[in-house]
Amino acid sequence: MSGEALQPIRGMSDIAAPDIQLWQHLERVARDILACYHFSEVRTPIVEYTSVFTRSLGEATDVVQKEMYTFEDRGGRSLTLRPEGTAGIMRYVANAGQDAQDARIFYIGPMFRAERPAAGRRRQFHQLGAECMGSPSPAADAEIIALQVHLLQAWGIKDFKLELNTRGLPDDHARVADGIRAALRPHRADLCDDCQRRFDENPLRIIDCKKSGCRAIVEQIPPVTEYMGTEARKYLQELMELLRQLEIPATANPYLVRGLDYYVHTVWEITHTGLGAQDALAGGGRYQMQMGRQTCEGVGFAIGLERILAVLQGQGVNGTDFARRPCVWLVSQGEAAFRENMLLMQSLRMRGIEASMDLSGRSMKAQMRAANKANSRFVVIRGEEEMERGTFQLKSMDSGTQEELELPEIMQRLIQERELS
Ligand code: HAM
Repeated sequence: MSGEALQPIRGMSDIAAPDIQLWQHLERVARDILACYHFSEVRTPIVEYTSVFTRSLGEATDVVQKEMYTFEDRGGRSLTLRPEGTAGIMRYVANAGQDAQDARIFYIGPMFRAERPAAGRRRQFHQLGAECMGSPSPAADAEIIALQVHLLQAWGIKDFKLELNTRGLPDDHARVADGIRAALRPHRADLCDDCQRRFDENPLRIIDCKKSGCRAIVEQIPPVTEYMGTEARKYLQELMELLRQLEIPATANPYLVRGLDYYVHTVWEITHTGLGAQDALAGGGRYQMQMGRQTCEGVGFAIGLERILAVLQGQGVNGTDFARRPCVWLVSQGEAAFRENMLLMQSLRMRGIEASMDLSGRSMKAQMRAANKANSRFVVIRGEEEMERGTFQLKSMDSGTQEELELPEIMQRLIQERELS
């Protein structure tokens, strides 16, 4: 295997200590909060039939046109690595039938987009998402936004910004597309190549273009809400009012449309200035999509976990802050002591105590060095003299104090320590 093959694929990463400790911390905090909001986890496969994504996300979106990892299985069926979580969850909901119609589901896992890797833009990244099924109600939108903001706050993310808009009702979509085309027609030749194509296929995508030339043109035309009926605007107003009551700061951004076509009514994005060009921490919205014969409706969000880590690390938080300290390291001299320590280590572990020892027969000095390196809180020493007396030395690595104890006392002390820590 060449050296290059030992590296993960560009835009994908191994996640190991110390970062993994921060990942696990974020997941632990999130799982507790999600339970308070009565959401339960669903783990869908990472690979789906391609049609699960093309139909729901929209054929004319960047994700479907340029960013999906799609391949054929041996039977010639087109499969895709999931680029996002909502479509797979809706496939699950449609398959589960009536029972899942009012489901509240969350998911945590890897997503794949064949994008050009850059700071904050990865080919494999992880999302924590939540989806709440049910027909449109601003209260449900407010509740899920409150959950999302709660998660960010509990993780310690500071200074994020929440912006909202509406994509209108399905009935509004044709009027919005016609309105954008009419407003942009005089500027058509100045749009980028992608937007020239989008002009006919899906002009809403032009509003989302990140290129500065297109942005300058878009800012001159009326916001998309101008082309919608009153119902969509009223829905957004009600939602803004509910967020005010919940004391969640939010700004209306009439140019926010989001890059996926399943949205109806509310869309939102949470950004953070510490992130640079890829500043979206999270996005969400209300959606409607066809899965087989069923229309799935709901509201949800997804948070990009690599970007959460980047913000936290920028704030000085590190995986080492969440490292677990082994409670005790067992040190032995001679074969008989080693065997007894093996037994003691197993008994301690069975009682929920983190215990370790060297298994390769190294010197006592080397075993003490290993205990120090692991930052163990205690060391239990079983030397030849202790074997003769039927005792153990218990040494606190923090205070340096040492006591000679018998087996029941050692167990009792370490169990007490576990309860206190
Ligand atoms: P999205 O905006 O495409 O929405 O992705 C959500 C978040 O995933 C982004 O805000 C960003 O933090 C992260 N993300 C996206 N692409 C990348 C990438 N290439 N590298 C690193 N992070 C990335 C969705 O996926 C929708 N499914 C959200 C949703 C759920 N809407 C309703 N329900």
